[in-house]
Amino acid sequence: MPAHPDAGAVRVRAAEPAEIDHLAKVWYDGWQDAHCHILPAELTRIRTLESFRDRLRAVLPHVRVAGPFPTPVGFCIAKGDELYQLYVSAKARGSGVAAALMADAEARLAAAGVELAWLACAIGNERAARFYEKSGWRRARTVVYQPDASDGAPLEVWRYEKRLP
Ligand SMILES: CC(C)(COP(=O)(O)OP(=O)(O)OC[C@H]1O[C@@H](n2cnc3c(N)ncnc32)[C@H](O)[C@@H]1OP(=O)(O)O)[C@@H](O)C(=O)NCCC(=O)NCCS
Repeated sequence: MPAHPDAGAVRVRAAEPAEIDHLAKVWYDGWQDAHCHILPAELTRIRTLESFRDRLRAVLPHVRVAGPFPTPVGFCIAKGDELYQLYVSAKARGSGVAAALMADAEARLAAAGVELAWLACAIGNERAARFYEKSGWRRARTVVYQPDASDGAPLEVWRYEKRLP
């Protein structure tokens, strides 16, 4: 059951190559909103719009989006057993878009045979943490995490887990 009553009305689909620039901006803006005041300044320096564009290009077949082509309002990326990224533009937060993206990702992970999914949440990202908890995820523990090979020092994050049906 999605964590928002309007989530069922939101259609989630595969991202198109023509949407990469727009999605990079959604990611960049969301990263600034959620992380620039709680993560080291070094990370803020390397999280450029171009860096998000490159990461999206590299994982495009795994990117799922919600909202109209070519300006989706949110996206989610799952890889392996990890819910790797979830970003919704500020104007679409609280609307059920995040819950729809999450439900789609969980269904895809479960269909791929994942029984225990996990995700990393920056320590102090309270809105995301609240969202994960109301979506049935459990904060398991604090772990050391390196989201991208080109990053500097690994970070401590909250590891969330969810057992999938
Ligand atoms: C995380 C994210 C996808 C969640 O989507 P959302 O649409 O904002 O989620 P919702 O509004 O349904 O749920 C967020 C909850 O946090 C609450 N909340 C809002 N601000 C909060 C804060 N500062 N501290 C704690 N809770 C907060 C909301 O009230 C809501 O809870 P409620 O439904 O019980 O009232 C979205 O906020 C986002 O894209 N944030 C920026 C990027 C990000 O942090 N991504 C996750 C990286 S780990």
